Amino acid sequence: MNPADQNRLTSHFDTPDSSWAILKFGGTSVATAARWRTIADLACARVAGGFRTVVVVSAVSGLTNRLQVIVDRELSLAELTADTDAIRTQHLQLIAELGIAPPPATLSWLDQLTALALQAPSRRGDFRWQAELLSMGELLSSSLGAAFLESTGLRCAWLDSRQWLKVEPRQNQSEWARWLSVSCQTRGDTTRVTELALQADCFVAPGFIASDADGATCILGRGGSDTSAAYLGALLGAARVEIWTDVAGMFSADPRQVPKARLLSRIDYAEAQEIATTGGKVLHPRCIGPVRDAHVPMWIKDTQHPELDGTVISDEVPRDVLSVKAISSRRGIMLVSMETVGMWQQVGFLADVFMQFKQHGLSVDMIGSSETNVTISLDPTENLVNSNVLEALCADLATICRVKVIGPCTAISLVGRGIRSLLGKLGPVWNVFGAMPIHLISQSSNDLNLTFVVDEARADGLVPRIHEALVKGSALRADDRRVFGPSWSSVYQTLPQTAPDWWRGQRDVLLQLAAERTPRYVYHRDTIRERAARLRALAAVDRWFYATKANAHPAVLRTIVDAGFDLECVSPGEIDHALATCPDAPLLFTPNLARRDDYLRVAATPALLTLERLESFAELGAALSGSEVSLRIDLGSGHGHHDKVRTGGAKSKFGIGIDQLGEAVRLAQQHGLRIGVLHAHLGSGILDAAHFGRVYQELLVLADQVASVRALNIGGGFGIAAHPDDSTLDLARVGELLATIKQAHPQYELWMEPGRYLVAEAGVLLARVNAIKQKYGRHFIGLDAGMHNLLRPALYDAHHPIMNLTRLDVVETMRADIVGPICESGDILGGERTLPQTEVGDVFLIAHAGAYGAVMASNYNRRAAADEVML
Ligand code: LLP
Repeated sequence: MNPADQNRLTSHFDTPDSSWAILKFGGTSVATAARWRTIADLACARVAGGFRTVVVVSAVSGLTNRLQVIVDRELSLAELTADTDAIRTQHLQLIAELGIAPPPATLSWLDQLTALALQAPSRRGDFRWQAELLSMGELLSSSLGAAFLESTGLRCAWLDSRQWLKVEPRQNQSEWARWLSVSCQTRGDTTRVTELALQADCFVAPGFIASDADGATCILGRGGSDTSAAYLGALLGAARVEIWTDVAGMFSADPRQVPKARLLSRIDYAEAQEIATTGGKVLHPRCIGPVRDAHVPMWIKDTQHPELDGTVISDEVPRDVLSVKAISSRRGIMLVSMETVGMWQQVGFLADVFMQFKQHGLSVDMIGSSETNVTISLDPTENLVNSNVLEALCADLATICRVKVIGPCTAISLVGRGIRSLLGKLGPVWNVFGAMPIHLISQSSNDLNLTFVVDEARADGLVPRIHEALVKGSALRADDRRVFGPSWSSVYQTLPQTAPDWWRGQRDVLLQLAAERTPRYVYHRDTIRERAARLRALAAVDRWFYATKANAHPAVLRTIVDAGFDLECVSPGEIDHALATCPDAPLLFTPNLARRDDYLRVAATPALLTLERLESFAELGAALSGSEVSLRIDLGSGHGHHDKVRTGGAKSKFGIGIDQLGEAVRLAQQHGLRIGVLHAHLGSGILDAAHFGRVYQELLVLADQVASVRALNIGGGFGIAAHPDDSTLDLARVGELLATIKQAHPQYELWMEPGRYLVAEAGVLLARVNAIKQKYGRHFIGLDAGMHNLLRPALYDAHHPIMNLTRLDVVETMRADIVGPICESGDILGGERTLPQTEVGDVFLIAHAGAYGAVMASNYNRRAAADEVML
């Protein structure tokens, strides 16, 4: 390794006096020669930095699972031989790629592995044998790794972890756990440590394994190698334990679900433990206890990107700003609900039921209780999955209470020290749950987490929405740079690079248009066309309507109709306007609580009518007998960027209830109307792809109850990433979901009716600075546009990007509220924005104003409307 690289790898660590560093690498990191070279570089750098270094390794990726198959399945001798031969070949190949002679130790472990595997038929149920066989993976990788590191010139030796990790027997431990999921002692012997330090500069040790008092091999269980590293860190009194993995640390949510999740730069042991326990996947919960007790800082680092800072778990964490640190989720949770059989205040009930859990070796996680019921959740342990222990437990419980098992469920946890003091900031999170049934809410008595248990089937997409709500509501203080690092997407840049906003290239034209007049809406035809093309690429959708309410400017309607969209209108006025502007476009009428006259008037046009209350069948039957209608259904819950745009659930005035569908079918027959389309639109500004699949699925189930249905209209609602912390709607994912469902149910046409997605980003509002003032240390920039032109910020706290177009790209040194001229305190277009030093007369651009902008304007305060221009 060249000196510059060496520097790069050592630079963020302080040089110790003469202490130990433990570096742990997982299965993929030890599977190829290239990855072993990285390990050698990192070990070299630590040794050069003055550390005695222990490299703890897992088995080559996939091997432990292969060994587990030998344990679990009844393989024939031929299969066992083929398997062990394949394992031998794989390791010999790796050794050859590393350019070393096959180490005698590795060859001997390979022989032992074969011998043990061939004992499978006679010893399958023997836990001692299982532990010996499963330990082979780590023995192989560590022995070949030690030889390789030595070959690079390091003074390196193999370290048998079993000499250090000694099993600590636990009470009530099952026989299975006594061999295959053990805990170890953490008290070290300093003399032994000093002796060890004399033997080499660097050691390679197998993770995952330990030994009992008789010296027999035992297994640490899941997450074993991380735990081994933590135990060794504690036993050797190390200066640091580094867990090298494929991601640069712990994040505020699983980055695969939430690409905008923030890196947790610093976190304390208890919080890390909580995140790991509640579902964070980076670390196994068991590995934190040993380093916490020994006060050894634990680092999480990315093997592929050693230059990234990673996460450090230690005692040194700022505690002055309370924040939710992370949201995590666990699937496969089983709840056991136990009802006393009518014995209120029954003494000893809890003792009786918990005794059963103890006897079945099951540990209880969360508890909710009432006077007559106790509901608990079970840790989803291997024990639970691998045996029929739950059945046996229920049988025993049934003798003392009424038992119900609820599951599978998902537990979603908000984690952060002092979570109870943050309840006031969780309003947006409650909104995300909406009317979804929650089986259990549990707050941990250590004030570190708040957990919600919901049906697994309904949990899809919840985590990203909750994360967003936490950031927006400032419950998760992503702005605290001491604690939160960059977002996962900005570190790994895996998000599709979005094209620069169209208006950057049109700055001169826009300034010219603003010179003529402000306030003024400007729309960009090419952007609308591009969005229309993106939507039409979703092949599962047979028919597209544009929700004209989003922006009814004639040039906008024409552009969208020319791109292949029909028009959806919600009032006779919109119908008239659509007919006048695009007489060729087929129409859909989707009003809310419209009166009979409105329906009859629109019925005189070719528009298809959507009914959404039971009374309409009788009101229209005689006049429209024989016609086809569409029927809007409220599926029971609403979604969207704000409470006020969610159009589902008991409090929503839209559609008929699911429970009214049977009656609607009867009334349709009675009054001679044919329900040809089922429609649901549950809200606007939805960024969760799964939502659209859900609506489609739910309508399908209902459609099977209505023989005349030929099409399903799953509404509009596609959101745009409005706030910098919003995730983007994964349109490709929507396409996949819809296509999969469509394939299974091709008999129904699929319709959609988006508004916002087509036009929001295609429109900007131009305004001029009227006046600037400063008061009590706060700056206000007053524009000639206000809530009368763009109501969304005032009505929904909607975020719109705002630029000083006159000084675009000038360094931002000023912080100010950007407000309008209306006599209302709510007339704020953007609160606390950072801007270049601004002067009266500058032109401002308010972006994402193409949807629900001009159409929602008023002349409140008798202020003038903005005009509209299409580019
Ligand atoms: N279909 C129906 C029946 C609707 O009511 C709406 C919008 C849409 C489709 C189109 O939804 P979109 O794709 O645009 O989300 N003023 C609010 C939005 C209200 C949406 C009203 N209905 C806002 O500025 O966010």
